[in-house]
Amino acid sequence: MSSQSPDQSHVATELRTLIQRHARDLSEQLQAHQRNSFPPSAEKTIRHFSPAEAAKLIGIHEGYLRQIASEGRGVSASVTNGRRTYSVDDIQNIRVVLDQGARGDRRYLPHRIAGEHLQIITVMNFKGGSGKTTTSAHLAQYLALHGYRTLAIDLDPQASLSALFGTQPELDVGPNDTLYGAIRYDDQRRSISEIVRGTYIPTLHLIPAHLELMEFEHETPRALMTRGAGDTMFFGRIAQAIAEAQNLYDVVVVDCPPQLGYLTLSALSAATAVLITVHPQMLDVLSMGQFLTMTGDLLEVVADAGGTTNYDWMNYLITRFEPSDGPQNQMVAFMRSIFGSHVLIHPMLKSTAISDAAITNQTLYEVERSQFTRSTYDRAIEAMNQVNSEIEGLIRKAWGRAT
Ligand SMILES: Nc1ncnc2c1ncn2[C@@H]1O[C@H](COP(=O)(O)OP(=O)(O)OP(=O)(O)O)[C@@H](O)[C@H]1O
Ligand SMILES: [Mg+2]
Repeated sequence: MSSQSPDQSHVATELRTLIQRHARDLSEQLQAHQRNSFPPSAEKTIRHFSPAEAAKLIGIHEGYLRQIASEGRGVSASVTNGRRTYSVDDIQNIRVVLDQGARGDRRYLPHRIAGEHLQIITVMNFKGGSGKTTTSAHLAQYLALHGYRTLAIDLDPQASLSALFGTQPELDVGPNDTLYGAIRYDDQRRSISEIVRGTYIPTLHLIPAHLELMEFEHETPRALMTRGAGDTMFFGRIAQAIAEAQNLYDVVVVDCPPQLGYLTLSALSAATAVLITVHPQMLDVLSMGQFLTMTGDLLEVVADAGGTTNYDWMNYLITRFEPSDGPQNQMVAFMRSIFGSHVLIHPMLKSTAISDAAITNQTLYEVERSQFTRSTYDRAIEAMNQVNSEIEGLIRKAWGRAT
């Protein structure tokens, strides 16, 4: 700037070069660390499931699974240490085989049919660390393991969900590989079906994140100024992108960034359901109050501009709950008294099994139970399954099915 003294511009340049150098050094070191911890050749995998677990996921008795496995019928299993185990592919295959026998009554393949609309669940709250990513990852995996065709979208430029799914933004995600590619305003825009990628669970697809998503926050004000007739406004762009692939999925789970920017608002407008994660502590609940006020105001603007604001359901999920903590219990009671049935019955418990698994980019569904004290793992997975099963019930109810 011409009015700046030489000294001031010197300071500005120093900061820029310093930040750039730090960014480069950190990125190089992190990549080296990632390469050591997760070598590119070491594809992320998910463990095999015991007959009891597989039967539960499919929704049949273990005895019946044993029977069809011994009859053959195109059902395959692996044998580990003399015991039969099932991979996610085996489980999916069994669903297909059973479904053929059941004349398509959807007991085993729970795909939606005509009249049942795609469920788009946005997991949000602008409070950082409220458990959005942990919730999104486990919900998406739970639904996929139960046979729903699921798409997980990482909408946070920080890309934590992608990392948890084994996708390293710095190594594996190139330009136009994020949802930005499908919602951008220029002629580089491409279909969402070119962007989705498979995961190690056959029924689970992922759209990873990367810093490029920030472009949407920068480009939207410009697009609002230069908008032509017929252009889709920012709040309609994620819905429009998802619509291009809607026949491929039953449920879409969107992990939002901890901000109320254009990305979050566009996800909110695309959503059919909203899940707000909240840690039951005073500061978190106060922050959520501000979040609700701002969201309410912004939704009014969206509605005035012709956007839809109707949802199948909107619920709060209590996260990282410690049942022995008195103040947390009071906070939960406080929320239940105000929001009533909008607070999910089951809270997600705080567990070292979750935070320890996250250190190696894994979820509870991926880690081996033997890595943990049994009771620690069992308590965590039971709480997680209860939360996810309650949400599955809301999804099925929205489709008008008996839950
Ligand atoms: N139930 C839990 N028990 C123990 N640790 C948890 C639990 N849920 C989340 N965590 C840990 O808390 C941290 C924050 O969780 P998470 O990343 O899911 O929050 P977030 O809302 O997505 O954060 P951000 O706002 O930064 O995106 C993570 O380190 C995660 O492993
Ligand atoms: Mg997150």
